Amino acid sequence: MRLILLGAPGAGKGTQAEMLNKLFDIPTISTGNIFREHIANCTELGTKAKSYMDAGKLVPDELVIELVKDRLKKDDCKKGMILDGFPRTINQAKALDTMLVELDMAINYAVNVEVADEIIIERMSGRTVCTGCGTPYHALYKVEKVANICDNCNEKLMQREDDKAETVKKRLAVYHDQTKPLINFYAEQGKLVNIDGVGEVEKVSRRVKEALGVN
Ligand code: AP5
Repeated sequence: MRLILLGAPGAGKGTQAEMLNKLFDIPTISTGNIFREHIANCTELGTKAKSYMDAGKLVPDELVIELVKDRLKKDDCKKGMILDGFPRTINQAKALDTMLVELDMAINYAVNVEVADEIIIERMSGRTVCTGCGTPYHALYKVEKVANICDNCNEKLMQREDDKAETVKKRLAVYHDQTKPLINFYAEQGKLVNIDGVGEVEKVSRRVKEALGVN
C-alpha cells in the first residue's frame, strides 16, 4: 500500500499514520519529523529548515524533494510507504509523480483528513510529541500511559516550537494558500479519499480503514 496523507497542520495526519504504519507494516515518511531530527542533530539541513519552520513557513521545495527522493530509494519502501506531510505544494506533487515513475511505484490513495481551523487551534495547544519517534499525543484526546513518556519508544515527550498560537495561525494560512490545491490535484488523478477528521481518534481511524477497504 502506498499512501499520501493530506490535511491541515494538526488535522491528525501523524496520528493516523501511526495506525496505518502498524496496520500495513510499512514505513512512515514524515518530512516534518525528518527535519526535526536534523534540527536536533544540528545538521546543515536542520539549521536551514529551522528558520522556516519556526516562522510557520514551508521549507523550500529544493531542500524537501531531494530528501524524499533519497528516502524512497531505501529498501523498506519496496513493500509500501505512508507519506505524511509530503507533498505540500503542487511543485512537490509533480516532482513526486516523476520520482514514482523512475522508481516504478504508484500511489494507491491520497487520504485527505478534513478538520476545521477552529478545532485545529484547540488540538495544537494540547499537543506533545515524542522526541524519539515523533508520535503525537494530546493532553485530553490521546494521553500517554506514563506521564511525558512515549508509549512506543519510551523517549520523553515535548511541545513543538511551531505549536505556539501565532505560528499555528501562520501555518494554517500557508496550508490554505499552498497545500490545499493538492486536494484537486489528487481528485483529478482519481486517488483522493476524503475523511471527516473530527471525532475520537479511533472513530477517525475506522473511517480511514473503511475508505481503504481494510478492517
Ligand atoms: P509537519 O511536522 O509535517 O507538521 P504539519 O503538517 O503542520 O502537521 P502536524 O504534525 O502539525 O499535524 P498532524 O496533521 O500530523 O496532526 P497530529 O496527528 O499531530 O511539518 C512541520 C513543518 O515542517 C512545516 O510547517 C514546514 O515548515 C516543514 N515541512 C514539513 N514537510 C514539508 C514539506 N513537504 N515541504 C515544505 N516544508 C515542510 O494531531 C494534532 C494533535 O491533535 C495531536 O495532539 C493529536 O493527539 C490530536 N488529535 C489527532 N487526531 C485527533 C482526533 N481525532 N481528535 C482529537 N484530537 C486528535
